[in-house]
Amino acid sequence: MKKTLFIAGLSVLVFGTAEAQQKKAQPKKEQPSTKQEDVMQVLNSGLSTDPRFAWKIQQDEAQRICSQYPSREVMPGQAIQKVIQLSQADIRYPQWGIFWGDWREGKKIVDNPRGGRFASYGFSDSPTDRGGNCYACHLIEKGLPGGTMGPNLYQYGKRWNITKENMNTPEALERVKIVYNIIYNSWSAFPCSSMPRFGHNGALSPEDVMNIVTFLLHPDSPVNK
Ligand code: HEC
Repeated sequence: MKKTLFIAGLSVLVFGTAEAQQKKAQPKKEQPSTKQEDVMQVLNSGLSTDPRFAWKIQQDEAQRICSQYPSREVMPGQAIQKVIQLSQADIRYPQWGIFWGDWREGKKIVDNPRGGRFASYGFSDSPTDRGGNCYACHLIEKGLPGGTMGPNLYQYGKRWNITKENMNTPEALERVKIVYNIIYNSWSAFPCSSMPRFGHNGALSPEDVMNIVTFLLHPDSPVNK
C-alpha cells in the first residue's frame, strides 16, 4: 500500500513539474516528447463526445474566473469573493447533517489513489472506484510517505482542539463543518487551490466526505495518535 501511494504521489509531482516548466520556457518544438503524444491520444480518443467525460472539458464559472489569473495572490478581491461565493453555494451536506462518521471508511478513501482517472491507454478507473489520493499532496499519518504540495495534516484533529470530552458540543461540530466544507469544495476556503473539489463534481459523496473528515479529526483516528 505504501508503495502504491508513493508512486501516485510521484506521478503527480512529475506532471506538476512538467506543467510548470512548460509555462516558464516553451518546450523545443522540433522534439515532441512522448508525453505530448500521450496527451494527443487522450484528446483524440473521443473524450469530448463521450457523455461520461464531456462535462470535464467544460469550464464552470469559478474555473473561468480562476483561469484569468496566474495565481491567487494577484487576483482582485472581487474575483476571490465571487469564487468563494460560488463554491460555498455548491456545498451539499449528508442527509442527517453534520455528524461523526466512520474514520475507518474515511481512511480507505484517503488511502485510495483511484477514482475518476480517464485515459485511453489503460489508466481509466471503473465508476465505482472512489479515492481521494490525499497522500499525493499531504503527509497525514505518522510515518507514511506523502506529498508536500499541501500542508501536513498529521494530528489535524488536535490542532482543531477536538477531544473525546468536547467532540459532541455544538462548538466542536461547527469546526467539523468547516473542515467538511474544505474537503467538499476546497475553493470555498482556498479559492482556485490546486486541491481537488471532491464533492463539487460528485467524485465523492457527502457521506464519503463526512467519513474523511472523521478520519482527520476523530480522537480515535490514527491521524491524531
Ligand atoms: C493535488 C493536491 C491535493 C490533493 C490531491 C489533496 N489536497 Fe488537500 N490541500 C492541497 C493544498 C495545496 C492545500 C492548501 C490550500 C491552498 O492554500 O490552496 C490543501 C489543503 C487541505 C486542507 C486544509 C489544511 C489547513 O490548512 O487547515 C485539508 C484539511 C486538506 N487539504 C485535506 C485533504 C484531503 C482529506 C484530501 C483527500 C481527500 C486532499 N486534501 C487532497 C492539495 C491537495
